[in-house]
Amino acid sequence: MAVAAEAAKLRAQGVNLVDFGAGEPHFNTPQHIKDAAVAAIQANFTRYTVVPGVPDVRKAIVERHTADFGSSYTIDEAVFTAGGKLALFNTIQVLVDHGDEVILPVPYWVSFKDIIEYAGGKTIFLQTSEEESFRITADAIERAITPRTKAIILNSPSNPAGSIVTAEDLERIVHLAHERGIYLLLDECYVYLNYPGKCVSGGSYTFAKDHLVILGSLSKTYAMTGWRAGYALAAKPVAANLSKLQSQSTSNATSFVQKAAIAALASSQVCVEQFRTEFIELRDYMLARLATIPGVTCTKPEGAFYVYPNVGAYIGKGGIKTATELATRMLHEAHVVTVPGEAFGTAEHVRISYPVTKQNIDEGVRRMGEFLTGLK
Ligand SMILES: Cc1ncc(COP(=O)(O)O)c(C=O)c1O
Repeated sequence: MAVAAEAAKLRAQGVNLVDFGAGEPHFNTPQHIKDAAVAAIQANFTRYTVVPGVPDVRKAIVERHTADFGSSYTIDEAVFTAGGKLALFNTIQVLVDHGDEVILPVPYWVSFKDIIEYAGGKTIFLQTSEEESFRITADAIERAITPRTKAIILNSPSNPAGSIVTAEDLERIVHLAHERGIYLLLDECYVYLNYPGKCVSGGSYTFAKDHLVILGSLSKTYAMTGWRAGYALAAKPVAANLSKLQSQSTSNATSFVQKAAIAALASSQVCVEQFRTEFIELRDYMLARLATIPGVTCTKPEGAFYVYPNVGAYIGKGGIKTATELATRMLHEAHVVTVPGEAFGTAEHVRISYPVTKQNIDEGVRRMGEFLTGLK
């Protein structure tokens, strides 16, 4: 968001930027979803609804998740929220007390850390290795557990590195959490953008339901970032508390967005597959272009729509001491927007979001290359 603000200032001055900063698909929201919202407005579906969302939207959430992952939730265990971020925020406020530890793999999406801290929790950073594509393993999670561990956050595929937890590790982590009485928060924002194979959800391990919270988002799956549509799936006591907390903040998420969400979740999923296919092509295109910049290395992301190149070879050159300085100078001098790795807990990377046109990838990477190799 900070990078976007800085970039917006430059854009307002007429600067032609290549924007690799935005964490959102470049597709338009599919027509049938827009139509459902328009129809709902025309039908005056514009009043308060019950706090966790109308039964039909919760039914659509539950049925989609059951069909895709074999989970088993009732509509009382679903809460529709104004975006996935709010589902996460409310869940952490409900579950995490002062001094509780929350395990968070690095690199992480920055909101996890800040939301944990806002609740008074203590973030336990779990380092991963770039050589192993930042993969999170059950062994590493087990080593990080202490008697104060309240929750573990898993975001697979991840923002920013696109790393995934394998199905075997996921199963072991679910068992670990359940046996030790720890909540496992599964951020499934990018769950349908899992490239190597079958999309998996910890929610399919129904025996562990009491310790699982599924955090879902329609933002990236259906190109709906601005609509603010997300949800939580959790066993009744947690779901009831999420609803109670929501009743004192947003109340229901926007009524006609609920209707749009029903259209998204309950009708054909062809658009999801189309987006996924295009993202894979763009990822491969982006990786091939980046490989032309000497000294820049990059893991192959297995999901989401970011690449997380290591630009460490250029830190120390041209008076640049940090990735933040590098991204800032690259923004002002090469007019390319990236997000510095410090925002995600690592020192030598920048995050590049690749839902842009191939022409923009060509131009942006060309500018990056020229800027970086020109540093002395
Ligand atoms: C990992 C992760 N989780 C959750 C979200 C929240 O998305 P939204 O609030 O738009 O549903 C994002 C958005 O960037 C994200 O990257």
